[in-house]
Amino acid sequence: MSSSTLTVTDNRTGKTYDVPIEDGTVRAMDFRQMKTGTDDFGLMLYDPAFMNTASCRSSITYIDGDRGILEYRGYPIEQLAENCTFLEVAYLILFGELPTQTQLDHWVYEITHHTMLHETTKKFMESFRYGSHPMTMLISTVAALSTVYPCATNVHDPASRLLQIKRLIAKMPSIAAMSYRHSLGFPYVYPDNELSYTENFMNMLWKMVEPKYAANPVLARALEVLFILHADHEQNCGSSVMRAVGSSLASPYLAIASAASALSGPLHGGANEEVIRMLDEIDSKADIPAYVESVKRGKRKLMGFGHRVYKNFDPRATLIKKIAEQVFGVTGQNPKLEIALELERIALQDDYFISRKLYPNVDFYSGLIYQAIGFKPEMFTVLFAIPRTVGWLAQWQEMIVDPAQKIARPRQIYTGSRQRQVVPIAERDAVEVTA
Ligand code: CMC
Repeated sequence: MSSSTLTVTDNRTGKTYDVPIEDGTVRAMDFRQMKTGTDDFGLMLYDPAFMNTASCRSSITYIDGDRGILEYRGYPIEQLAENCTFLEVAYLILFGELPTQTQLDHWVYEITHHTMLHETTKKFMESFRYGSHPMTMLISTVAALSTVYPCATNVHDPASRLLQIKRLIAKMPSIAAMSYRHSLGFPYVYPDNELSYTENFMNMLWKMVEPKYAANPVLARALEVLFILHADHEQNCGSSVMRAVGSSLASPYLAIASAASALSGPLHGGANEEVIRMLDEIDSKADIPAYVESVKRGKRKLMGFGHRVYKNFDPRATLIKKIAEQVFGVTGQNPKLEIALELERIALQDDYFISRKLYPNVDFYSGLIYQAIGFKPEMFTVLFAIPRTVGWLAQWQEMIVDPAQKIARPRQIYTGSRQRQVVPIAERDAVEVTA
């Protein structure tokens, strides 16, 4: 018997099965053969929230949560943040290798020349209610792009996939900036092809009457590094949604809108906005112990703390603290930083957080930087969605070409009633129901 097997004895039948172990994993389908009789469906695995289920093979992003390691295509995040531009990292994540200068120049040219939005998309955005949340405008508008590019459903055509990938990476900042300006009632600013990806984004956000927008280089680089840190994070909630929706062969614009919807929640990318609201609520250092006590009593969560995978530290949070210093050197310190540092200090000494391995995650400090750069809290999750689009697209592409993948379709353990008879409406007894 191979040592790379798991021997399972089904005590209901006394039968023994050898299940292969590959890459530290057993296949759920190998358990289906374990039946009590011919009518039995066979054993399934129950794993709510996919706590211990690998849904794919992937060569994009490696995370070692216990050691705080994050690598894109094998390159440590620290080196990429130090040496690369965002579009260089996007190329790496999507195509597997760092580009040469010629390849990068071509890639940057291609992305830069897809940043414009169709005028009908602009009109679509104009119809949003004044004060709409920028993240929901972004999600709806990306979904609406599926009407502009109906051929995008040709997902098995590599050339079509590449075109949609370029369009989406290029257009996300344009949509994001338009949603921001719409929420302020400002006229939209068209892209400037002479600027870098982040400089152009800043141009579309903040250009007013000046003939040419000049971004502060420190802030533009800080945004670039933040984009690099957020570009992919393997099978998180949003990426899993991207793969699941994409697995039905839906338009990538709709899959991206779905992934962005998942990201918008406060337990995922929406946490960065919630952190700032939490720091506003805490108000002063003196209020921190009472706030931490209320967290420990289960009244609320400490937003920006904890992670499903990182159980030691989030390497992105460590890098973000460094960026914060550079940004505050230009903008002046965000007054909430002191509260955040003290909150972190108190939490990291407290047994509640130590025993549960809860550490600051990527969202704990990113909001402070975004706010110092000049973003409203409503924009924070949008700033997460722009770079994460690269990761979503890489995950989507990998899923589409993987012969092992099919339409995503989990199983359930049915717990409801069976075989009831419909009673005519006049004869029914009222039963109190809850949602
Ligand atoms: N504050 C207080 N308690 C917490 C927190 C928190 N932020 N996070 C987890 N816990 C507790 C949780 O109540 C549970 O306690 P107990 O064992 O007594 O029931 C224990 O720690 C384990 O937590 P969990 O909910 O089982 O962990 P999870 O892996 O399901 O959740 C998480 C991960 C990120 C959703 C969660 O830590 C959380 O809600 N954090 C706050 C929101 C946040 O910052 N999200 C951003 C995540 S990083 C960026 C991203 O993914 O987009």
